[in-house]
Amino acid sequence: MKAVLAYSGGLDTSVILKLMQERLGAEVVTVTVDVGQKDDFKAVEEKAYKFGAVKHYHIDAKDEFADKYVSQAIKANALYEKAYPLATALSRPLIAEKLVEVAKKEGADVIAHGCTGKGNDQVRFNLGIHSLSPDTEILQPVMEWELSRDWEMEYAKRKGIPVSDKIYSIDENIWGRSIEGGILEDPMAEPPEEIFEWTVSPSLAPDEPDYITVDFENGVPTALNGEPSKLLDIILELNEKAGKHGVGRIDHIEDRTVGIKSREIYEAPAALTLIKAHYDLEKLILTKWVLEFKELVDSKWSWLVYTGLWFEPLREALDAFINEVEGNINGTVKVKLWKGNAIVVGRESENALYSKELATYEKFSTFDQKLAKGFIDLFGLQSVLAHNLKTVPKVSNLEGAKILAKKVS
Ligand code: ARG
Repeated sequence: MKAVLAYSGGLDTSVILKLMQERLGAEVVTVTVDVGQKDDFKAVEEKAYKFGAVKHYHIDAKDEFADKYVSQAIKANALYEKAYPLATALSRPLIAEKLVEVAKKEGADVIAHGCTGKGNDQVRFNLGIHSLSPDTEILQPVMEWELSRDWEMEYAKRKGIPVSDKIYSIDENIWGRSIEGGILEDPMAEPPEEIFEWTVSPSLAPDEPDYITVDFENGVPTALNGEPSKLLDIILELNEKAGKHGVGRIDHIEDRTVGIKSREIYEAPAALTLIKAHYDLEKLILTKWVLEFKELVDSKWSWLVYTGLWFEPLREALDAFINEVEGNINGTVKVKLWKGNAIVVGRESENALYSKELATYEKFSTFDQKLAKGFIDLFGLQSVLAHNLKTVPKVSNLEGAKILAKKVS
């Protein structure tokens, strides 16, 4: 039996790598997909071979992740439950695709991963793999073989697999870092400072703000401070720049797809800054009707991605709507990074619906104020009538209608 294993080099996947050989006699091909996690990939590869991989694939998918997944998330202002920028969720369908590619190339009919049965990642991986390759069997050893952490530690010691005494469960890629477990499982406990790696505490952030500008084309960032760059580089630079000002910490009570409520801490400096800037530019450019409707689309899109339904036709249909609308989102946004905040302080676009001539309180305004009166009467017609019927003594429906008709005419 030949199997492909999604391999991070951590305790779970190293134990699984060994166990699959022992229990199933499997030839295991390991795959590590680089989506921007700050790992020592050379060490991961060495570990894979040391514990018996017949072949190891290291796939650098950072640009693909930025250009195909994160760019779409920016266009969708994607925040699950208004809070989580979906870093892990976005990476899973891409990793699933890479696993399937390697499985095809290697003639493997099984794909294994180290997810438990309690999280979201199993849903995302499994639905991704099933969608792309219905004949591939999925092996989920931590769940199927009921591997507990204690048992794994003991087994690892016996097999010479290095174990660390890490308290937290961490996942990271270019779009963010998630921290779960330990004291964080008490939702009342404030996150200890030591869990943060990408952001400084806002109270220790510089007193002086930094100002940045982001240029958008078709809804996607194309330049930082006027300097054209590919999306990946803009994200990496902003993670540094905004993280330095304490921007990007999120403390979120989250509804997992499998029903559990969990307490999640995230660091996502670039994600929060770019989504904020992007949404602000949309408000300058889009009609209020499109904005109102797009909010529904954005939240549904985020839900689909979170719950692992990336390959669902509805996601593609929503993307078609989003891409149509985003064709107009060109312009520049100015953001102030300061003491834990990314504050939009300016925006401009050739497509702006904002018009100073209309909006100004100065005399030169082109807005015809007299039109407002009739508009207001019609706009509030039913609401005023309903309120009058309830509160003004002896106004009948008929009388009320007459009074209003007179007013309006
Ligand atoms: N709660 C986040 C999500 O579901 C983060 C999950 C982190 N995954 C992990 N294997 N540690 O997307």
